[in-house]
Amino acid sequence: MQLYDWDKKYSVDFEPIDTQHKMLLGMINKLLLNQLKDKKIILMLMDEVVLYAKFHFFSEENFMQIYDYSDFKNHKTEHTDLLNEVISKSTLYIEDKIKLEEVVKFLVNWFVVHTTKGDRELGKYLKKITGDKGKNL
Ligand SMILES: [Fe+2]
Repeated sequence: MQLYDWDKKYSVDFEPIDTQHKMLLGMINKLLLNQLKDKKIILMLMDEVVLYAKFHFFSEENFMQIYDYSDFKNHKTEHTDLLNEVISKSTLYIEDKIKLEEVVKFLVNWFVVHTTKGDRELGKYLKKITGDKGKNL
């Protein structure tokens, strides 16, 4: 599978969130770069994705609460569902029920949907309310 470059189409136009999304994409690429390594290494890298996604969601939820985002509840529910799905995919991989490729496909699809749907709306709102694309946040 090919590596995924960051692209303007993933931008939510709010820097702190874009920075974290770039990190997430980098971690997906790291999985691809190490796909032939030992399963133990792959599992460590999957843990890295899960832990960073937890941090990222927590960070977005803080922004939503600080700036009274009206869709907070729904967005938080989406985060919880996504995390559960990522964890269940990695469990299936650990149990040899799915291949790494399937986990990566899921992660990439999740990344694209996550950045171009709900987060785009959130970015638009945060940009408007903070006035500076979050440069100093
Ligand atoms: Fe996000």
